[in-house]
Amino acid sequence: MTGPKTIQNSVILVGLMGAGKTSVGRKLAALLDFPFVDADQEIEMAAGCTIEDFFELHGEAEFRKGEEKVIRRLLESGPQVLATGGGAYMNPSIREVIAQHGISVWLRADLDILCKRTGRRGGRPLLKAGNPEDVLQKLMDERYPIYAKADIVVDTSQESIDLTANNILESLVAFNPETK
Ligand code: S3P
Repeated sequence: MTGPKTIQNSVILVGLMGAGKTSVGRKLAALLDFPFVDADQEIEMAAGCTIEDFFELHGEAEFRKGEEKVIRRLLESGPQVLATGGGAYMNPSIREVIAQHGISVWLRADLDILCKRTGRRGGRPLLKAGNPEDVLQKLMDERYPIYAKADIVVDTSQESIDLTANNILESLVAFNPETK
């Protein structure tokens, strides 16, 4: 059988801030008839404060511990589309738990797109560490080789949310873990 119903495991979206994980994730979840879960929102609910405040109060290292705990818990709860925060996939333990529970999808975008999209919404503490464009470029250099380990890579730079979600769906249907 082909079609969305062949997808039975969770789909986990990874990629840099501004890549569109949340908006594309919502659309993809609707196409798959899966619940959509946003890890950052769940972290904020668990912590009882915003990510920005969490970084300020407890620092990044504590945030990363909480992030791992929340993602582990979420992935235990059955098939879903899960949007992860940009740093989550850099943690080898999170990569492992993602690989155990589902298919990872890297939403790859160019620097100018990431700058434009992250400029529209604040609340991202890492982008306050310097000029946001320089920070994003540095994060691209560090993280893109790791994001590239994802099962599926989809370009999101020029494409609309709908087209990106459909591109992911096609790749999911074609995905064969044996040939990865
Ligand atoms: C982070 C990305 C953010 C959030 C936190 C750290 C990162 O999520 O988890 O600010 O390390 O790239 P988004 O990618 O959803 O903006």
